[in-house]
Amino acid sequence: MTEEYRHSAEFIDIMIAPHWQAYGPVLTEALRGAPAGPVVDLGAGGGHGTRVIAQALPEAEILAVEPTPGLRAVLLARVNEDAGLRERVTVLPEGFPQARLPGRLGALVAMSVIGHFDPADRGGMWDLLAERLAPGGRAVLNLQPPAEAVAVPEAQMADVRVGRRAYRGWGRAEPAGAGKVVWHMTYRVYQDEELVQEVQVDYDWWVLGEERLKEELALRDLTASPAGPAELGVYVVTRSRL
Ligand SMILES: C[S@@+](CC[C@H](N)C(=O)[O-])C[C@H]1O[C@@H](n2cnc3c(N)ncnc32)[C@H](O)[C@@H]1O
Repeated sequence: MTEEYRHSAEFIDIMIAPHWQAYGPVLTEALRGAPAGPVVDLGAGGGHGTRVIAQALPEAEILAVEPTPGLRAVLLARVNEDAGLRERVTVLPEGFPQARLPGRLGALVAMSVIGHFDPADRGGMWDLLAERLAPGGRAVLNLQPPAEAVAVPEAQMADVRVGRRAYRGWGRAEPAGAGKVVWHMTYRVYQDEELVQEVQVDYDWWVLGEERLKEELALRDLTASPAGPAELGVYVVTRSRL
C-alpha cells in the first residue's frame, strides 16, 4: 500500500509540515505520563511526529516504521542529524503488519495512517494494542474525513514555498466500494508561477468514523477518547479496564 507514495514521496514531508504545528502540541499532551517505552511511530513519514514523540518522552526508545523508501530517507536523515534522536530512534523499513514490533508497547502513534489499513489489518492493529500495551500505555491516532465512503469535491490542500518554487497539492475523493474511497491527488510545482512539474497519485483510503472506531475497539476492551481540538480528529486509545 505504499506504491503510491513512491511517486509523491518528495512532496509529503513539506506538505504535511504545517499540519504538525497543530498536531504537535496535541500529541505531546496525549503522551504525557505514558510509560517510558518503547514507542512505535507507525507510518512515521519523514519524522515530524517522531521528533515530537522524542521531545514528549525524553527517556523512551522509539521505533519509527516507514515502508516508503523516499520518506524513509527523509526520516533517516532527520534522525541522523540530531544526536539525541540518533541515539534512541530505530528506523524500520517494513510496514504494518510485516514490521517486527516489540512485545510490550509504551505507546503507538499512528498519525494520518489508519486509512491505509483495510479492515482486516486495522483489526490486527487493535489486536496488537490489546495484547501489547503496557500498563498506562496508549495509542494516539487521528481519523480523517470522510467518515463514510462519499465523494469529496476537489480542494487545495497544500501551498508551500521553498526558494523560487511553490509546491501545491489538490485532492478529491470518490467512493470505491464499501468502506473505501480513492483520493485523487495532484501535486504541482511552480517556478515563478509557471507550472514546471505535475504528479498525479491515487491512494486507496479506508474510511473510519468515531462510532465505528469505538465499536471496533470495544470488541477488544479498548476505549478511544478525543484529544485536542475536534477538527484534528485525534484520539487516545487505552485499555477500558486499567
Ligand atoms: C500521510 S503519511 C503520514 C506520515 C506521518 N505519520 C506524519 O503524520 O507526518 C502516511 C504514511 O503511512 C505510511 N504507510 C502506508 N501504509 C503503511 C503500512 N502498511 N504500514 C506502515 N506505514 C504505512 C506511508 O508510507 C506514509 O509515510
